[in-house]
Amino acid sequence: MRKTISYDDVLLSPQYSDIESRSEIDISTDLGDGLILQTPIFSSPMDTVTTAPMAVELAKRGAAGIVHRYNSIEEQARHIAIATDNAGEINIGAAVGVTGDYTDRTIAATEAGATFICIDVAHGHHILMKAALQQLRTMFDYDIHIMAGNVATLEAINDLSDWGASSVRCNIGGGSICSTRIQTGHGLPGLQTILDCAQTDRDVAIIADGGLRNSGDMVKALAAGADAVMCGSLLAGAAEAPGEIFREANGSVWKSYRGMASKEAQTDWRGKYSSLEGIASRVPYGGKAAVILEDIERGIRSGLSYSGARSIEELQSKATFIEQTPSSLSESQTHITTRKW
Ligand code: XMP
Repeated sequence: MRKTISYDDVLLSPQYSDIESRSEIDISTDLGDGLILQTPIFSSPMDTVTTAPMAVELAKRGAAGIVHRYNSIEEQARHIAIATDNAGEINIGAAVGVTGDYTDRTIAATEAGATFICIDVAHGHHILMKAALQQLRTMFDYDIHIMAGNVATLEAINDLSDWGASSVRCNIGGGSICSTRIQTGHGLPGLQTILDCAQTDRDVAIIADGGLRNSGDMVKALAAGADAVMCGSLLAGAAEAPGEIFREANGSVWKSYRGMASKEAQTDWRGKYSSLEGIASRVPYGGKAAVILEDIERGIRSGLSYSGARSIEELQSKATFIEQTPSSLSESQTHITTRKW
């Protein structure tokens, strides 16, 4: 059986750097078929993460939000149009499915100003994904960037690329609210997924999606071969995420965050539920998305500087991963000690 690894199993070995200021570091990323981000971050197409206000904040920082698809075509298009009107020159994505209204949704979203489409299903290495990608490529040729996913293997990313995907969301069941691995026994550790998918010889961009708990995980994902990252929980607590802010008597302040395959999300959007592969939870209220994004961006720049890299491409060529033992992992975490002797 093969040994696989995830984010906590490794560290990047620090390298000599001649970078004098983090402003020398360019974290832009060209994802192909017209989609270039100045900051390599997407927000997840989830109903507790991305509607217009979140997408606007990401766009302002050169990143991109993907407006979720658990709404009517008109409502999704309205969110895209509001973002497009407010933010000047931006990137904003629209999530669509692989059956039902996905072609009409794509047409409405692109007319409203979506600059890319995200075909958003749990198991992307699937015959219905093949049909949807081929259908959208017949309608739009390669005039629009199409992101697809999710997948976890090299064979899958190669197939999605061959079927027409410009970029692919990589990771199955690794997100903070995912229960796919518990429910189905399937998945691959998040960092291993990126390392495996990065072996592709196709012209396809890799999005490290889910399970990223901090900018350190993001730097590891980028170093392993990802072209950009996607965050759900890190942004779900922001003021601009959909949903109200709850204040408890004990002083805790939080927002709801739920998997799109949770009982709660499925019941709200479909009136019933089938396989439960996510949970509904809460995250601490985190204030303005701009501040959260700025902190993440600073961490990524700093990460590149520790590898002496001025670009993501340079990071990928220079990165040296080392394995960490359980004791080095505990040392890597903050660990204030009290005197016990
Ligand atoms: P994070 O860790 O950033 O993960 O909160 C967000 C990603 O999780 C995926 N997602 C799900 N996966 N069941 C799953 O197995 C779900 O219900 C679910 N909802 C979202 C998705 O890839 C997202 O970007």
